[in-house]
Amino acid sequence: MVRLYQSGIIATGSYVPDTVITNHDLEKIVDTSDEWIVSRTGIRERRIADKDMAASDLATKAAQMALQGSGLTASELDMIIVATVTPDMNFPSTACLVQRNIGAVNASAFDLEAACSGFVYGLIVAAQFIATGACRYIMVIGSECLSKFVNWEDRNTCVLFGDGAGAVILGRVEEGYGILSHILGADGNGADFLTLGAGGSRNPASFETVEKQLHCIHMDGSEVFKFAVRIMASMAEEVVKNAGLRKEEVDYLIPHQANIRIIEAARKRLELPEDRVYVNLDRYGNMSAASIPVALDEAVRQGRIKKDDNIVMVGFGAGLTWAACTIKWAV
Ligand code: ACO
Repeated sequence: MVRLYQSGIIATGSYVPDTVITNHDLEKIVDTSDEWIVSRTGIRERRIADKDMAASDLATKAAQMALQGSGLTASELDMIIVATVTPDMNFPSTACLVQRNIGAVNASAFDLEAACSGFVYGLIVAAQFIATGACRYIMVIGSECLSKFVNWEDRNTCVLFGDGAGAVILGRVEEGYGILSHILGADGNGADFLTLGAGGSRNPASFETVEKQLHCIHMDGSEVFKFAVRIMASMAEEVVKNAGLRKEEVDYLIPHQANIRIIEAARKRLELPEDRVYVNLDRYGNMSAASIPVALDEAVRQGRIKKDDNIVMVGFGAGLTWAACTIKWAV
């Protein structure tokens, strides 16, 4: 592919619902303890969407915030990509609902599903359209309402997840800035480790699927954990090398927020001090595709990321999938 333009993030936004569920709240629902959850995962609390709120509502709020920061109008967007495993419904896509909500009348819109790796997958897909000149501005959103798909009687999973959305606008940036390198990967042999088995064409919704809780997340935690530690560390190192950077040139790591021990594996491989890794999983838990863009938006708003900084984003998730990119911050 001939690259005509360099693409980078020119604005960010995020939204998390107001309702907080703490570990102590969960102690009243399942046989767990604040001590177990904090020591094994690093999570202290998570946000939960109201009954009448879906992924497109969270995504819309994050998108509006990103638009506000960009100085663009919604009609200037050429494309909207929503990464999600918790769409409002099978179809239409959540991206089309966001397009309607924000009035992005000139934007094409589609969802992308790569679980927790979905946001970085979306970013790299979007970058191809910017690079060729086919699109000028693309909104990429990670939005999840995982609380609606959690079995609140299963302590193995219900303590881990939360709801939220993060959005970025991708546009042209100066040469030498923007996305410098990326890695996208998948291994379908690990498909059974993390599933939401019912509601699709394999197991359409039925009384039986509901009774067996097949519309909820099922996870082999230790298999996912082993894979995640290995892939997060090796990807972080490789994506930095592919960008032509040395480890000491990395300014900030924005990892997927699943487990503090997994984040530590990536941080140690890059030999970064703790204050150069953004962690918010203590407040939000794992928000799947929303974790990285929410963390990115918070880091930008707190002034931790500045022009010229080299940022690394790394994520992994169901599929199994993994994705990473290096960005030289352009704004
Ligand atoms: N409270 C108390 N005990 C618990 C809880 C809980 N909430 N959950 C599990 N346990 C128990 C289990 O029942 C088991 O008990 P047993 O040994 O008597 O059978 C024991 O704790 C499990 O211990 P470990 O397997 O050693 O726990 P581990 O340290 O591996 O932590 C965890 C489990 C947190 C799930 C970890 O494996 C993990 O983080 N895995 C990765 C999950 C992940 O990152 N998923 C991301 C993808 S999400 C997406 O793509 C949508």
